[in-house]
Amino acid sequence: MKKTLLAVTLSTIAFSASAENNNETFMWGAASAAYQVEGAIDQEGRGKSIWDYYFNEKNLAGPGVSGAVAINFYDRDQYLQDISLMKKLGINTYRFSIAWPRIIPDGLGPVNLVAVQHYRRFIDDLKDAGIKPLVTLYHWDMPLSLAQAGGWSNRNSVEWFARYAGVIFANFSDQVSDFILINEPSVEVAQNIKAQRYLRGDFSNPVPPIVATPETLELSLKSYNHILLAAAKAREVFTAGHYKGRLGIAVPLSPILTASDASDKDKNDARLADGILNRWFLDAMYKGTYPEDVIQLAKNMKLDIGVKDSDARTIGNAHFDFLGINYYSPFFIRHGGNQKGYNPELYIPEGQLAAFNGAVRPDQLTALLTRVKTEYGNPPVIITENGAGFTGEDKLVNGKVADTKRCEYIRDHVSAMQTAIKDGARVEGYMVWSSHDNLEWFGGYNTRFGIIYVDWDTQVRTPKQSAYAYSKIIKGEWNSSSLCQP
Ligand code: GCO
Repeated sequence: MKKTLLAVTLSTIAFSASAENNNETFMWGAASAAYQVEGAIDQEGRGKSIWDYYFNEKNLAGPGVSGAVAINFYDRDQYLQDISLMKKLGINTYRFSIAWPRIIPDGLGPVNLVAVQHYRRFIDDLKDAGIKPLVTLYHWDMPLSLAQAGGWSNRNSVEWFARYAGVIFANFSDQVSDFILINEPSVEVAQNIKAQRYLRGDFSNPVPPIVATPETLELSLKSYNHILLAAAKAREVFTAGHYKGRLGIAVPLSPILTASDASDKDKNDARLADGILNRWFLDAMYKGTYPEDVIQLAKNMKLDIGVKDSDARTIGNAHFDFLGINYYSPFFIRHGGNQKGYNPELYIPEGQLAAFNGAVRPDQLTALLTRVKTEYGNPPVIITENGAGFTGEDKLVNGKVADTKRCEYIRDHVSAMQTAIKDGARVEGYMVWSSHDNLEWFGGYNTRFGIIYVDWDTQVRTPKQSAYAYSKIIKGEWNSSSLCQP
């Protein structure tokens, strides 16, 4: 009886989300990114990206760890099997990225039509299976030549990206309705900073997602501004070309928390961290301004962030159609040491369950969605990434993977999202990160995030406990207490 009631509640939510937003159905999906899954890095005219340089040439993720094979997803025989597996699970949306270095191998020059054909066929194959393509234009694989010309720290990156976006719209907007222009600006910049440090042989000080030193803060704010301007410019190209469809950006958002006995310094650092990581993006997109406290901090620190007075207005005027939110965890912040000024330190409170990407706090997803609703005019939202991995959990035993913690993580975050939806948040979709185990940036192949297990030697796929549970969630056939039981 209870089960039936829950199923009814869930489908009602899916229906009201769809009715309000004029979408056919709630998007229940899974996400991935080109370099993390495709392999085939030398095939069909692909150029090099910065990640080929970091991983293949410089071994920054360890010897032999790179996207050279990954999960072999560029191979049609392979991906057709994956599509049919996702279809069986009930997944109705697949978020994937198109590789810029495949489409324009040197970043600026001729378009590689073979790669265009590959992705067009892939999208047709998805749609034939009834799966909606949610297409990311850029998931960090910047063509190497452009990265070497300064990447996002170079203001010309706005034009580089706009041209690439124009090529994508011209070739795919007849097949695709929702485009995610850029994925996770702040995490990408942090990963590049980390890579640069590793290249200098500095492994002692991994960059946290909170940016603290003057140099990294300067580079970050400057790059964030260019990334947002690039997305705004892509919007102009889209409008000028009279393309039909919707555009958004996938922003990693993390509520910033402090201890109950936090000092004023702790609270000040937390406020600024929120300004840099959350409000910088949300204020620009929804208010057409950059947060005054962060601009003031940059002035006090004498940073040259290259922001022009009109930049935030330009970004606000782009009026993106939906907000992509990548949510993994909140950040707990305290003031670091005895140093003066902005000096935040991340910590995980004692007793707090943590996954690879931080504290497991579904309640903070509700809080985040509620904040976006109340402070930013309740835009349509797609949860473009949410998921987890836990040390030692993904073991294939007798043909099964009992990833109970991941199952509970997904269950609890879906419930947290539904609480916010009931309260009026306009969430249109949920993409679990990730459909499959794949190459996790610096984590390499040992840091698994998938709901489908991949055997790296044989490429054999095995749906995990979490995949079967997600399938039940999608179908509305679940109740919380039994969903993740073995
Ligand atoms: C990111 C990226 C993904 C990651 C995922 C798990 O957040 O770093 O968007 O590519 O693989 O978040 O860490």
